Amino acid sequence: MGEVDYMDDEIRKTISEIQEYYKKRANDGKYATSPDFNLREVEIHYLSQWLNDGKKILDVGCGNGYSTLSHAARFNSCFVGIDFVPEIIQSANELKNQFKLLGSVDFKNGDVTDLRFENESFDIVISERCLLNLPAKDLQWTAIKEISRVLKKGGHYLMLEGSLQGLHKMNDIREKFDLEPIPEAEKSYNWFSNKFDEDEMLSYSKQHFSSLETIQRFGMYFFISRVIHPLLVSPDQPKYDARINEIAKNICLQIPDFENIGHEALYVHKK
Ligand SMILES: C[S@@+](CC[C@H](N)C(=O)[O-])C[C@H]1O[C@@H](n2cnc3c(N)ncnc32)[C@H](O)[C@@H]1O
Repeated sequence: MGEVDYMDDEIRKTISEIQEYYKKRANDGKYATSPDFNLREVEIHYLSQWLNDGKKILDVGCGNGYSTLSHAARFNSCFVGIDFVPEIIQSANELKNQFKLLGSVDFKNGDVTDLRFENESFDIVISERCLLNLPAKDLQWTAIKEISRVLKKGGHYLMLEGSLQGLHKMNDIREKFDLEPIPEAEKSYNWFSNKFDEDEMLSYSKQHFSSLETIQRFGMYFFISRVIHPLLVSPDQPKYDARINEIAKNICLQIPDFENIGHEALYVHKK
C-alpha cells in the first residue's frame, strides 16, 4: 500500500480483515456499506451541493457505488469510483444497471493510498467514510497526500470522514440524559473505525490544500437519531429503519446542524 513501507504485520492483518468484511457485505444490497441508510441520503445530499456538470470526479472507497451512481444520476460529469475490494466493485457494476445516468461512471479496483492516476487529473475527489477504514495514521496521511496529488489546482476534496470531536460532543449530550456513550468503534460492526482528531487532520491537510472552504456538520440528524430516538424507545434499542430516523433525515436536509455534534462531518478542502 502506497508509501508506507514500514507497515507492520498487525496492520497488514487488519487490512485483510477489513477487505474480508467488505467482501462478505458486497451483496447486501444498495446500503451494504452503510446500515444507517437515512444518514447516507443526508451525506449524498450535502456532497451533491459541491458537484456540478462537466467535471472529472473521483470517488475513493466507493463501496457498492450507490452514492457515486446517485450523483451520476443528477450530474452530467465523468465519475470514476475505486475500491480495494474486487467483489464490491463487481456489485457496483451490477447496481449501475438500476440507475438512469446523466453522467458516465467507471468503477475499478484501486487503493486510495496508491492512486493509479496522473497528477492533477480530477476536478473533484470524494471520500465518503473511506479514510476511516485505514488502520494507521500514516496510511491516512498518505491517502490525503495522494488525493491532493491527483486533484487539479483549484479543485475540491470533499472529505466526509469520522470526527472524534463530533463523537465526544454527541456523547456529552447523551450523558446529560443518562445514555451510554457511543464507542469510537464497535467490536461487532466497525471495529476498524479510525476517526480523525479534527485539529490534527486539519493541520496536516494545510500542507496539501490551499484552504478549508467549510465544515458541514449533520448534528440535527445525530441529535434526533442518537439522543431523542433512544430516549423515545428505551429500554428497546433504536433501529435504523424507524420512522423517526426518516424524520431526522428530512429535518437535517433543511436544518443540517445542531451543536456541532456527530461522529462524522464533511470537510471541504480546496487545492
Ligand atoms: C464504509 S465503506 C463506504 C463506502 C461508500 N463510500 C459509501 O459511502 O457507502 C468504506 C469503503 O472503503 C473501502 N476501502 C477501505 N480501504 C480502502 C483502500 N485502502 N483503498 C480503497 N478502498 C478502500 C472499503 O472496501 C469500503 O468499500
